[in-house]
Amino acid sequence: MPEVKKKTKEHESVLVLLQEAQEKFGYIPEDFMANVARSLDISLSEVFGVATFYSFLTCKPLGRNVIRVCKSLPCCLKDAQMIIESVESELRIKPGETTTDGKFSLTLTNCVGACDKAPAMMINDDTYTDLTPGKISQILKKCK
Ligand code: FES
Repeated sequence: MPEVKKKTKEHESVLVLLQEAQEKFGYIPEDFMANVARSLDISLSEVFGVATFYSFLTCKPLGRNVIRVCKSLPCCLKDAQMIIESVESELRIKPGETTTDGKFSLTLTNCVGACDKAPAMMINDDTYTDLTPGKISQILKKCK
C-alpha cells in the first residue's frame, strides 16, 4: 500500500501545480509540465495524463471567453446538441477551437451542476441554464 499512497500524493501535487499554472498562464505550457515532472521525479506522460484528464485544465492557450457546453446525459436529453450547434453557428468554430480574434473558445464538458435547468453551459465562471438558440445569441452578444 505505501506505493499507492505515494502515487496519490504525487497526483495531488501535480494537480495543485497544474491548477496554479492554469490560473497564471490561462493554460499549461509544455515546458512547465516538463519542470513538474523533473521536480517530482515522475514521467512527463504522468503529468500530461493529469493535465488532459480534467476538463478545467488545458494544454493550449484559450480565448478570453471560454465556453463550456455540458455534454452529460441530462443536458443531452434536453438537446445540448442544439446548443453546441448554435454556438458553432454564431462563432463559426467547433469544439476545441478558438475564434481568430481570440475572444472565444468552445469546449465540451461534463456536468456543470445545473442538471435541473438543462441544457446548460458556462462562460468562464458564469453558468447559463435553460438555454435556447435565442438565449445563446443574446449571451454571446453581451460577451463580445
Ligand atoms: S448534466 Fe448538464 S448540467 Fe448536469
